[in-house]
Amino acid sequence: MTDHRKARRLTSKLLEWYGENARDLPWRKTLHPYGIWVSEIMLQQTQVATVIPYWQRWMRVLPTIQKLSRAKPERVLKLWEGLGYYSRAHNLQLAAKQIVTEYQGVFPKNPESIRKLPGIGPYTAGAISSIAFGLPEPIVDGNVTRILTRIFEIDKSPKDKDTQAKLWSLAKTLVRSAKDCSSLNQSLMELGATVCHVRQPECHRCPVMRSCTTKRNNIIHLIPAKGKPTRYEEKEIEVYVLFRNENVLLQKRSDGLTNAGFWELPNNETGPKLKIANKKEPIVKVRHNITKYRILLKAYATSCDKKIKGKWCNGADIRRLPISASHRKLIRALSKQHKGFAQIFIT
Ligand code: ADE
Repeated sequence: MTDHRKARRLTSKLLEWYGENARDLPWRKTLHPYGIWVSEIMLQQTQVATVIPYWQRWMRVLPTIQKLSRAKPERVLKLWEGLGYYSRAHNLQLAAKQIVTEYQGVFPKNPESIRKLPGIGPYTAGAISSIAFGLPEPIVDGNVTRILTRIFEIDKSPKDKDTQAKLWSLAKTLVRSAKDCSSLNQSLMELGATVCHVRQPECHRCPVMRSCTTKRNNIIHLIPAKGKPTRYEEKEIEVYVLFRNENVLLQKRSDGLTNAGFWELPNNETGPKLKIANKKEPIVKVRHNITKYRILLKAYATSCDKKIKGKWCNGADIRRLPISASHRKLIRALSKQHKGFAQIFIT
């Protein structure tokens, strides 16, 4: 049997399984493209359980494309705080503005137009087209890659260009052979997320186990093939804790930097190195891992004679402003371990 014939045979089993096993997720109760779009962007690098409350709050505060397009950027960042990869929030707002000006505020239905919006790649365009509009557009993400490479025993690295082309072609065959394109694509995501795990897949619960060549050949642990290991980069950042009365100085990250628009304590990543009196030990150290970076933040209490730009913040300001995840972590540690800092939150 050719791969494509086999793909067509899988659809009915996948659809039946999905009908009985789909999780009850809030964005599955809407057909509104805006809500589906927001969910797909949030789910790009974040687990379902984390996304649920963020999605619900976002939809409550910014229920329409128009509201998002007009919201203050700081408000948008605050709603995203803690989810990471903040360019996603920035691109959502850019795209909302574009939809208002180019499409009279109505989310476009054409996959080509969807793909041209900021922050939307082939996966997200396929997900929105199929889930919101029922169109036979394929999706390939980590979950779908794991399922397809296993079922079809594709043993080359999924990062290779020709493997990618093959996966997209199989995904296209699958979705085109389904009556319900939305459920078919979601069944692939769902199977990957709940059954076909990276380690220890639960094959006994899989509706297509009998079609899985990798399972039959007992080599599931080898597929998908691992690419080159990630090279991590160590980064050490000095952070300066400057007090004035019962306030602490925060600075806003400039446009063009990662995490632009977020507030943080002054540091030598974005500003000059400051003098630390007799090079004391840091008052607090915090580790933060993000993508390929292994970051160590070392906080020093210091003073600065020169005028240094920023905003003197009290506890309420710190709670209200959008602050990047690493600096939130640092501030939490400082308020537990440093008396002066704890005082800011009391007053
Ligand atoms: N991961 C990516 N998109 C998803 C969706 N719509 N439902 C559940 N998990 C997902």
